[in-house]
Amino acid sequence: MKPRTIAEPYKIKMVESIRMTTREERELAIREAGYNTFLLRSDDVYIDLLTDSGTTAMSDMQWSMMMRGDEAYAGARSFYRMEAAMQEIYGFRHLVPTHQGRAAEHITSQIRIKAGQYVPMNMYFTTTRAHVERAGGIFYDCIIDEAKDPWSDFPFKGNVDIAKLQKLVDEKGAASIAYLNIAPCVNMAGGQPFSMANLREVSAWAKQQGLPIIFDATRAVENCYFIQQREEGYREVPIRKILREMMGYGDGCTMSSKKDNLVNIGGFLATNDDAFFVKAKELVVVFEGMPTYGGLAGRDMEALAQGMREMVEDDYIASRVRQVEYLGQQLMDAGLPIVRPVGGHAVFLDAKRFLPHLSQDQFPSQTLAAALFVDSGVRAMERGIVSAGRDPITHDHVRPALELVRLTIPRRVYTNLHMDVVAESCMALYENRERINGLRMVYEPESLRFFQARFEELEAVTV
Ligand code: F0G
Repeated sequence: MKPRTIAEPYKIKMVESIRMTTREERELAIREAGYNTFLLRSDDVYIDLLTDSGTTAMSDMQWSMMMRGDEAYAGARSFYRMEAAMQEIYGFRHLVPTHQGRAAEHITSQIRIKAGQYVPMNMYFTTTRAHVERAGGIFYDCIIDEAKDPWSDFPFKGNVDIAKLQKLVDEKGAASIAYLNIAPCVNMAGGQPFSMANLREVSAWAKQQGLPIIFDATRAVENCYFIQQREEGYREVPIRKILREMMGYGDGCTMSSKKDNLVNIGGFLATNDDAFFVKAKELVVVFEGMPTYGGLAGRDMEALAQGMREMVEDDYIASRVRQVEYLGQQLMDAGLPIVRPVGGHAVFLDAKRFLPHLSQDQFPSQTLAAALFVDSGVRAMERGIVSAGRDPITHDHVRPALELVRLTIPRRVYTNLHMDVVAESCMALYENRERINGLRMVYEPESLRFFQARFEELEAVTV
């Protein structure tokens, strides 16, 4: 028998109109945006799947907590409420708020990395790697090989390959490593989780080597959901408890609250390390603000504290991840090439297989994201060769194994009918895929180029 439908555990109290455009309007808009979906105006977008970052719909509780915001410059009540929520939900001792995740990465990298040291990560993330490199560090990829195969159905493609870590220690010594940076639901791998069993082993190994583990906890709750669903022994364990266990294996974290924490702006770093905490407070006043607000308004900290409590409700997180799955399943059923299994925050189209007639240097993911926008006004994001940037030494393109277009689902924002529209548009493009032509880059910023790079068509996009 077909399982019973489970609806969203919320109802809609406020709506925001969105506008459908004509194909001509969209062709003009994408040309003016240099074929870069980051440079589109949101007014021209029908369904915005650029990112799940800061695009969340807040709850009535979060909005009402904002009225309690204490806007004192120092020692605000709202800070202490955020600190208490972080300690309860994540379990770390010390909190330093920041305006968003990359500010926490900046502070962590500046304090923890000595020039020339390695920072192993389970695949890179753009801003995290940029901050590691700015601090003189070297990114070292320690994710398992399965993560780079979009067709592998391995349930924990975010796992760390300890043999790769051991190899680095054997060749360079443990002192050459600043810390391990471990991300749950690895964004660039397709939102893929690690298992608790893997984390336990990594933690034991790191202790032996005397290396701290710093999580990029941005999508930890989504990872906890996959552990609950896929890993033996966790089926009946509440998400709250799984998160505490996970964070317990680390020494601290950086966090972009714009994802899991259900707010539109915010972030933090958290730590159990007293000496690091002192240094982080010294740096945060230079770059963000007093350590009791770190670039956030009192009301932001209130919304964040409430968001942390809502994100660990089992019904909420199940509904969030299931919506992503709902879109992914439709595309798989229609035979479209997507990263499998479907990730926690997004469905990733495999642009190499979608557009096999384009070489990687013709920017297949960038091309496909532009074509999707022209077809239906759906905005997605390139996660391929443009995002990967250039090698800091050779200055050649980094050509990543995964060439993807990310359809990122904002939290609590769209209905499953919106997902149907997205699926239909992807299918229409796939049917006419041989008519999609590549792009050439005509403007390239030096750092994080994907945000602002501009392109021109090799030949007209004629889908
Ligand atoms: N770490 C991960 C895994 C992220 O996905 C992001 C942001 C950050 C750190 C940086 O946080 O934006 O608050 O400064 N990811 C966004 C995205 C931009 O669309 O995936 P931030």
